[in-house]
Amino acid sequence: MRYQRKTIQGLLFLLFLWTFQRMYHFRSENTQTEELKLSDWFFPNAINHSNITTTSWAAPVVWHGTYDEVVLENYYANHKITVGLTVFAVGRYIDHYLHTFIASADKYFMVDQKVIIYILTDNFSKVPWVQLSPLRTLKVFEIKQEKRWQDISMMRMKTISEHVVDHIQYEVDFLFCMDVDQIFVKKYGLETLGESVGQLHAHWYKASLTELPYERSQLSEAYIPIGKGDFYYHAAVFGGTPIQVLNIAKECFRGIMNDKKNNIEAVWHDESHLNKYFFLHKPTKILSPEYCWDHLGPNRIEHTTFKIFWAIKNYDFLRQSV
Ligand SMILES: *[C@@H]1O[C@H](CO)[C@@H](O)[C@H](O)[C@H]1NC(C)=O
Ligand SMILES: *[C@@H]1O[C@H](CO)[C@@H](O)[C@H](O)[C@H]1NC(C)=O
Ligand SMILES: *[C@@H]1O[C@H](CO)[C@@H](O)[C@H](O)[C@H]1NC(C)=O
Repeated sequence: MRYQRKTIQGLLFLLFLWTFQRMYHFRSENTQTEELKLSDWFFPNAINHSNITTTSWAAPVVWHGTYDEVVLENYYANHKITVGLTVFAVGRYIDHYLHTFIASADKYFMVDQKVIIYILTDNFSKVPWVQLSPLRTLKVFEIKQEKRWQDISMMRMKTISEHVVDHIQYEVDFLFCMDVDQIFVKKYGLETLGESVGQLHAHWYKASLTELPYERSQLSEAYIPIGKGDFYYHAAVFGGTPIQVLNIAKECFRGIMNDKKNNIEAVWHDESHLNKYFFLHKPTKILSPEYCWDHLGPNRIEHTTFKIFWAIKNYDFLRQSV
């Protein structure tokens, strides 16, 4: 009898071990599928051209053709996210661009994902009514009028910080900040999401390091020495997690205010400060110029690969104070 009981106990113990091991195995399999690795969706060698697809610090440079949309969509189907998009619409930019920007974002920006578009405007009553698809929300906030367009674009960094702190950080997982005078023409999707995301400037991505229009005065906070730097980033698009966007905006604003105190304005205003930020804190993802293309600019790419293009501008008219 005693012998039998021992055998049963032994068998039960083995059964327990086996179950435990199965459970553990199952769990570790599960966690493996939970992590999305860069190599699961990003294929830097998939395109046959001489453009850079990986930076020296191993960040992906996302070009059309380097990413697997299906893998990303499957992953995010099980990992629900909300993506924010801030856009500033002031003065005549409201009448000229805002409707097209919102309508085209509705169609192409983060298709099938939850999106909140934050409109920051100096005239609430002029914001157009746009019929949005399901999963899209529009939130409109009023901001103070600035006289000079340079000040508008520089104060933008302060306004973004305040809104991220007040509410955006609790509402979205990723955030993009964009200029209003652009049009989405193709899917702008999950491949663009990252911790901190920089946009290659369509006019400068082929230029050599010494040619890049960084701020060259040592008196400015945005100063980058000749021969230093990585890329020239376009301030029309930047993004990341809300906390990273907050860091970018806060740091740029600090630089701008210090320059103001010293009576300096960097050559490309907030963009110079953004370039300094990304020089010191490398972005974890870079978007090819296809993600902010100027089809009237000096470079040429395949028409079918760009996602956004700049709208045609008449600066003299647009930048008159309101
Ligand atoms: C890639 O480029 C090389 C050299 O320019 C060319 O010979 C080859 O056919 C190209 N391959 C594809 C798949 O386009
Ligand atoms: C806002 O827009 C409305 C309608 O175009 C206009 O009547 C009003 O004067 C504007 N307000 C300001 C503060 O510019
Ligand atoms: C870069 O990519 C574009 C778009 O695919 C292509 O047309 C161009 O030839 C590539 N090479 C360079 C050096 O820009």
